[in-house]
Amino acid sequence: MTLQTVYLNGDFMPMEQARISPLDRGFLFADGVYEVIPVYQGQLFEWEAHYQRLENSLAGVFINNPMDNQAWLSVLQQLISLHPWQDQFIYLQISRGQQIPRDHLPQADLIPTVFAYTNPLKPLADSIISHGIKVITLEDIRWQRCDIKSIALLPNVMAKMQAQAAGVDDVILVNQQGYVTEGSASNMMMVKAGEIITPPLSAHILPGVTRQVIEKIANRHHIPFIEREIHQTELDSADELWLASSTKEALPICQLNGQPVADGQPGAIWKQLRQLYQNYKIQTRTRSTI
Ligand code: PDD
Repeated sequence: MTLQTVYLNGDFMPMEQARISPLDRGFLFADGVYEVIPVYQGQLFEWEAHYQRLENSLAGVFINNPMDNQAWLSVLQQLISLHPWQDQFIYLQISRGQQIPRDHLPQADLIPTVFAYTNPLKPLADSIISHGIKVITLEDIRWQRCDIKSIALLPNVMAKMQAQAAGVDDVILVNQQGYVTEGSASNMMMVKAGEIITPPLSAHILPGVTRQVIEKIANRHHIPFIEREIHQTELDSADELWLASSTKEALPICQLNGQPVADGQPGAIWKQLRQLYQNYKIQTRTRSTI
């Protein structure tokens, strides 16, 4: 096993030595935000989009960004270079910091706790490429600001547990009006008659960077990309369903609530998109090294 080095509050250290206060507001109140950023061949993927979302999340919860873009880049690039994996994903988290005594109201002068570490990013399993994943629909019980990448993820954790209990891989969350929001840790897309359809950006979903990349690729290759509400009843007649996230790219859903999605195999548009996504990764890497 590779010994992992993490970044905590200005220092790099072995994971085993990293310590934070039990009175950190992240621990006591889930008072913080995070990002997950893929790294391909040693290079951050779509850094500017992730950084912009981090700034939006911080502003959304009234935490000042403790570092500027260049300082973040320098920390993350050092972290990447300290690990041997070609493809990685970085987890970074900023909490509002330690406060004594515990109080719901944050003190004005708190120093945010900044943590980042990296993991090997594994390619999609062959079984997923050939058979896709299984999901169930589940009521979305989250808050009204899901556009903020908050570390308060209890409903998402419970959704994953409910998926496991039902013998499936993940969920498609549905709001009280019967409209799809997203997955437990991913955005959701439906393909119907050659069009990629996905719920519009709003306070009810996270503005996924993978979603944004898929939109860009679709536009470049003249695959219609439509943002509109999707009612759960439409899912039964979908040609394809996908979940999209930084660590999984686009995943084909081949079973929904115990029924096959279309013919129960990963669809043609997903296969095309997957190839285009790999090309996009190579192109963006080449551009940033020139
Ligand atoms: N999750 N929606 C939710 C609720 C998410 O948690 C995520 C990502 C996404 C997709 O966002 P992006 O394409 O930028 O990864 C959508 C990350 C991977 C996680 O929590 O681990």
